[in-house]
Amino acid sequence: MIKRVRSWWGGQAKQAEPDIAPDNIPEHVAIIMDGNGRWAKRLGMPRIMGHQNGMKAVKRATIAADDLGIKYLTMYAFSTENWTRPKEEVDFLMRLPQEFLSIELDELIEKNVQIRMMGHGELLPSHTRQALEEGIERTKHNTGLVLNFALNYGSRLEMTEAMKRLGARIEAGELKAEEITPELIDQNLLSAGMPDPDLLIRTSGELRISNFMLWQIAYSELWFTDIFWPEFTKDHLLQAVAEYQRRTRRYGGLK
Ligand code: IPE
Ligand code: IPE
Ligand code: MG
Repeated sequence: MIKRVRSWWGGQAKQAEPDIAPDNIPEHVAIIMDGNGRWAKRLGMPRIMGHQNGMKAVKRATIAADDLGIKYLTMYAFSTENWTRPKEEVDFLMRLPQEFLSIELDELIEKNVQIRMMGHGELLPSHTRQALEEGIERTKHNTGLVLNFALNYGSRLEMTEAMKRLGARIEAGELKAEEITPELIDQNLLSAGMPDPDLLIRTSGELRISNFMLWQIAYSELWFTDIFWPEFTKDHLLQAVAEYQRRTRRYGGLK
């Protein structure tokens, strides 16, 4: 389908919307939302303006994912390593969930979206945690898209905690070491109950994983784009899904 879109300089440009096969939509899409700071700097603005505009891209991605019929959308919003940033930036980031939910929660509820949080919530400021808890509570019975925020998330910490828990059960005599299986490890990760990501997207041109879902992305399809996160639109998600549909997933076997 050819549609007219407004280009960044305000003129009209033609852009083809990729064909998406409705029977091969990735069930779980995970996004490493990167490049907020560089986007802002490029426009001569402070880094936090990148985060502010990144929030709008979260909204666009959520609506687009819901329209496509994606079931789980996991958004990497703050890593266990991001605490090393300047305090003002961290404080700003910690206020964004409140701001996002105060603007968007009603519409998310209308759209039957279920909000979840994946990360070490106990280490978040109480105002951040409360806002998220309210969003989670008010959407817990919703059956549509699961919007899963990875906040204070780090894969190595997640796996370390899982190992500690299993180790404690062994010490208590409740579990034998030989009873540990990949499924049991899955059940002890913060993503327990969710399918592994089918498609992992990273914006900003960085070609790395940055401690994100290391266990869960064993067989995910990876899609990288040079655009910065605040620039992300529905068209980018469509491009990523179209590319996903061109891939052959073999899981080590033969097709
Ligand atoms: C992603 O953008 C948001 C977070 C990691 C919180 P960045 O803040 O990492 O922006 P860049 O990568 O420095 O441009
Ligand atoms: C990854 O981005 C974390 C999030 C998007 C929340 P970073 O900007 O923290 O990653 P590095 O430092 O470039 O690896
Ligand atoms: Mg970054």
